[in-house]
Amino acid sequence: MALQNTTFLQACRGETPAHTPLWLMRQAGRYLPEYREIRSKVSFLELCRTPELCAEVTLQPIDRFGFDAAILFSDILTVFDAMGVTVEFSPAPKVAEPIRTVADVERLKFSPAGDELGYVFDAVKACKAALANRVPLIGFCGAPMTTASYMIEGSGSKDFVHTKSMAFCEPAVFGGLLENITTLLVDYLRGQVEAGANALQIFESWGAAFSVEDYRTHVLPHVQRLVSEVKAFGVPVILFLRGNAGLLALAKETNADVIGVGWDMALADALDVVGRDKVVQGNLDPIALFAPEEEITRRATSIIEAGRTAKGHIFNLGHGISRLTDPAKVKHLVDVVHSA
Ligand code: CP3
Repeated sequence: MALQNTTFLQACRGETPAHTPLWLMRQAGRYLPEYREIRSKVSFLELCRTPELCAEVTLQPIDRFGFDAAILFSDILTVFDAMGVTVEFSPAPKVAEPIRTVADVERLKFSPAGDELGYVFDAVKACKAALANRVPLIGFCGAPMTTASYMIEGSGSKDFVHTKSMAFCEPAVFGGLLENITTLLVDYLRGQVEAGANALQIFESWGAAFSVEDYRTHVLPHVQRLVSEVKAFGVPVILFLRGNAGLLALAKETNADVIGVGWDMALADALDVVGRDKVVQGNLDPIALFAPEEEITRRATSIIEAGRTAKGHIFNLGHGISRLTDPAKVKHLVDVVHSA
């Protein structure tokens, strides 16, 4: 199949593509005027629940910039629909009734993904149809702890006091919750692959909430199970575990096909941790896109050079793109990466 010979999937497999592939985390979103135009007519959740509109916004950055992969337009928190948890976006997520006690956890339901999340699978199909094999489509989910943290905190958090309190005071309850979420996520990602996703990314955006030791004890076993079960679906699995060198070493222990690297460490140093026999993804500081073009060129070139010493490298940001980014700077970045 022709898609298998695209630069992105070649890099995922550790083969040598004609150029370093790139896509950007949050590449479809508010920094694009054409996205804001659609969002002026529908809410974020309506957008996520309308497959044709998901396909349209998924393709916007592909049409504009020629990225080497598309990522499904959705959110890591849509999965709450299968658990009976209500979340609002304004635009940051807010859960009115956070899950804090044993009784709260016991009230959660875990429906089969197909019962409540069919609209996501329909969005995957709509994206695949619209892409017509131009580039591969990445499906995704939040990692079990990052997902749980939003329902436990009720929003984003700086210190994750409720999430960590549950882990430290009621480790069996916390472990049981992550176990059930993991089982649902496996089912959810299976549905995305069956609907046509060509690769999967797991977002552990808030890994650094836990110390390396606590992450190993309370979180890592669930990520390991998630990665190993979804690898059986036959598409590359990218684990983006944002944090520090210690967490990166744990990311390697999951055996994910591709390891995402945050922006806060040099890619060369990250490779010292994960090993040059690994495929990595990353890791330009998203705010570097606010620098003059020559500086963007300098930084991107240095990341590409470090990436050439790895088994494979997919260029990306080290976290999601800022909504204040000038699309012209993104265009410049794409030109630099594609001509390097
Ligand atoms: O282009 C893409 O990357 C695909 C779509 C996508 C969105 N969210 C759309 C979105 C993806 C892959 C995500 C993942 C996601 N969602 C993560 C992991 C990545 C990361 O950034 O760490 C997290 C933690 C979330 C939870 C979430 N959803 C937050 C914290 C927010 C608000 C933050 C913000 O940017 O203001 C959202 C809302 C959201 N998800 C928006 C988009 C485009 C903005 C909503 C809007 O249009 O108003």
